[in-house]
Amino acid sequence: MKNIYTLITGAGRGIGEEIAMEFYKKGHSLYLLIHKKKDLIRLRMLFDPKRVKLFLGDINDQKFRRLISKKIPYINNLINNAATTNKKFFLDVTLKDIDKVLNTNFRSSFILTQIFTKKMIKKKIKGCVINIGSQLGIIGAYNRSIYCCSKFALEGLTKSSSLDLAKFGIRVVGINPTKTLVSDKEAKSQKKRLKIIRDKIPLKKFSTKKEIAEITYFLTTKSANSITGTSLNVDGGWTVGK
Ligand SMILES: NC(=O)c1ccc[n+]([C@@H]2O[C@H](COP(=O)([O-])OP(=O)(O)OC[C@H]3O[C@@H](n4cnc5c(N)ncnc54)[C@H](OP(=O)(O)O)[C@@H]3O)[C@@H](O)[C@H]2O)c1
Repeated sequence: MKNIYTLITGAGRGIGEEIAMEFYKKGHSLYLLIHKKKDLIRLRMLFDPKRVKLFLGDINDQKFRRLISKKIPYINNLINNAATTNKKFFLDVTLKDIDKVLNTNFRSSFILTQIFTKKMIKKKIKGCVINIGSQLGIIGAYNRSIYCCSKFALEGLTKSSSLDLAKFGIRVVGINPTKTLVSDKEAKSQKKRLKIIRDKIPLKKFSTKKEIAEITYFLTTKSANSITGTSLNVDGGWTVGK
């Protein structure tokens, strides 16, 4: 099999790590962007270093983005997954919060997409960009104003960049999960809160890391070759209506 290179941001834990595992099992060569050293050390043990290169850094740091742009010659797939959250009441959101959430969840994805689609175009690679958004990029939520804004912006990036990149055969697709359990700690310590959320989801279930990872992989395959500029709401019906 010809080497297929996939870059995943926020791959150190949660959904990003599961996506990395899925693409690894499917035989891809990976570039994984990791934020914390402890995750880098843990992930080193899971993957064959010949097929998986790990980069430790902050995607909001221009020097780090320059470094990975220099070290990674080209890729076939970019998975913009890294994100941060903010649960403040609207009036309490600070300028610092706005910068942090927009930079991490939107601006860095915009810039990384520019960097790596430029390389795809140069090498005539009909690649794929997957933006991991959220159901909160489709509808609002209490105490999530800046997080929602960042995910609405990502939705805009998916649509608008897909138009500009279509002539190069590059597809851009979004995935919008509902609540997805990523830590055992949360599952154990927040049972009451999680039940309230689950009861609001029409299908009465959370999305799972495995589902998101498998859907992400599917969207990069030939079967999805006609899908671009749209997002898949993997939300158990959350955004359908009330
Ligand atoms: N889990 C859910 O319920 C849910 C629901 C809807 C959508 N989503 C979306 O799904 C994606 C993955 O979510 P998740 O729950 O797996 O998130 P997570 O467990 O919080 O993981 C996010 C990853 O991104 C990294 N990251 C954050 N800021 C970064 C930065 N400045 N530079 C580099 N890496 C950075 C984090 O590093 P640190 O470990 O240092 O924080 C972490 O490894 C996100 O886009 C999220 O918005 C999640």
